[in-house]
Amino acid sequence: MNRYALTLLLSLLLPGAAEAQSKGDAATGRVIAERWCAACHIVSPEQTSGNADVLTFMTIAGQAGDDLGSLKAFLADPHPVMPDMSLTGQEIRDIVAYIGSLR
Ligand code: HEC
Repeated sequence: MNRYALTLLLSLLLPGAAEAQSKGDAATGRVIAERWCAACHIVSPEQTSGNADVLTFMTIAGQAGDDLGSLKAFLADPHPVMPDMSLTGQEIRDIVAYIGSLR
């Protein structure tokens, strides 16, 4: 059995295990945000230019509920105005961890 099949099997058998193994990583989230989101959003306090009509990540961080669950849901099924970037579950967790760190 190859590694992919094994991982898939494990994640089917142990949904909690895959979840626990991959908590969001804010540093990775920042790298993803700077690569994929910075064209439109201001993603960090150091970024000086972006699209003025789009919320900054600092504002998004302040508006998100305590558990950041709404953010995860939004990123899993983005708003039509935003391109569907097909983020993986891990990428979403990383970005959400990063946005959470901006509060
Ligand atoms: C092509 C431009 C563009 C890119 C790239 C982009 N966004 Fe957006 N984003 C928008 C626009 C425009 C809105 C506002 C949508 C609306 O309210 O109608 C938005 C809204 C959001 C919101 C919701 C804010 C709220 O509470 O209303 C979140 C969260 C968000 N973006 C996160 C991200 C993340 C994370 C990335 C990178 C993975 C990203 N965006 C990349 C244009 C973009």
